[in-house]
Amino acid sequence: MKFHKAQKLQGVIAVPGDKSISHRSVMLASLAEGTSEITDFLEGADCLSTIECFRRLGISIEKKGAGHILVHGKGFHGLTAPAVTLDAGNSGTTTRLLSGILAAQEFSTRLTGDASVQKRPMRRIMEPLSQMGAQIVSENSNDCAPLLIKGAPLHGIHYTTKVASAQVKSAILLAGLYAEGTTEVTEPYVSRNHSEIMLRLFGADITTQGTTASLRPGSPLRACKIHVPGDISSAAYFIAAASLVPNSEVHIQNVGINPTRDGILRVAKAMGADLSLENIRTDSGEVSADLLIRSADLRGTEIGGSLIPTLIDELPVIAVMAAFAKGTTIIRDAAELKVKESNRIDVMTRNLAAMGCDVEATPDGMIIRGGRPLHGAALDSHNDHRIAMSFAIAALRAEGETTISDDACVNISYPSFYSDLQRLRTARID
Ligand code: S3P
Repeated sequence: MKFHKAQKLQGVIAVPGDKSISHRSVMLASLAEGTSEITDFLEGADCLSTIECFRRLGISIEKKGAGHILVHGKGFHGLTAPAVTLDAGNSGTTTRLLSGILAAQEFSTRLTGDASVQKRPMRRIMEPLSQMGAQIVSENSNDCAPLLIKGAPLHGIHYTTKVASAQVKSAILLAGLYAEGTTEVTEPYVSRNHSEIMLRLFGADITTQGTTASLRPGSPLRACKIHVPGDISSAAYFIAAASLVPNSEVHIQNVGINPTRDGILRVAKAMGADLSLENIRTDSGEVSADLLIRSADLRGTEIGGSLIPTLIDELPVIAVMAAFAKGTTIIRDAAELKVKESNRIDVMTRNLAAMGCDVEATPDGMIIRGGRPLHGAALDSHNDHRIAMSFAIAALRAEGETTISDDACVNISYPSFYSDLQRLRTARID
């Protein structure tokens, strides 16, 4: 697809449902007793992979309308052995969280995903789950999927993670639902806490203190109504776009602003963005708000430490903001970017440089000396949805034409991204 400079962005949009919360809603609803109703569910490819896996595990999931599903849960012991290999597609979240559940079943499963998922590190879940008694091996002995998971009786552990990862924490806590004794996870910094919030909503006995989450098994999960807030990771593209394109004013409705996810708001403000929050409310245990963003002159900033897990998926688009900001932006403590859907340090650095940006990769982040005018370029998305969307935004401020390969990958998290962007802009997308 081809992208050109925009003169202004204006209007109101509602970004699709949160990807992390959508995955968890299907998983917990499947293990609950009774029918859960989920609204504003993200019908992106990743969450559809989760639905497909649970259907293969014997759960009936009905689509009632756009983003509206009913999950007929069968309780902790209602899953049945799938007839085929479970396919997580491009979704690391599906692969890791589902492994925690499968480790405790009374059957064996083979779980895999696409070429990208088959390169993602799985040792980080295999190790704690094995300590709990799980029998889980990497088929190719490379610590990646395909995973062969033989259900086994589990016992609780206290696990301390090296990196703050909600996927690792959640895999352990989900296994903990089936374990004997308490399961505890301590992280270096608190990662997104949607699993903890939703487990509590469904009736699990879970508490958190500092960076430790503790789950005591035994309480059955009860069916719930879940309203999924808009995904702040998707809103981030429009926060960046409205800030960068002159004369812009964009309202984004119903955005989840859970404090473990809101780093983009804090960084945008530190960079000088004109951003305000309206109508703050809580629904299904999650805080959301409407956002109003107007164009602003941005300045560089430093991002690291405990902020990183709160904006890990937004770092590609933050790097785009930094490229147009005055001064230097330093991103550190973000080595995790190397093991996402692509190596995002490498891919961001190469694509920004191709547009004329002064950018340097570091072992755990990037140094971006912003403020140079950027020009359009032919860019490779590496089939990574967040890379494709980030450069569609960069193109709005670059001179000339930008082309992005494999642009359909936005379907992973934001199927209507291009049409939403088109509605807000006055220039055209071919
Ligand atoms: C996610 C956690 C994060 C994030 C991913 C979704 C989740 O990954 O990058 O897009 O839903 O738990 P890590 O747990 O690997 O940091």
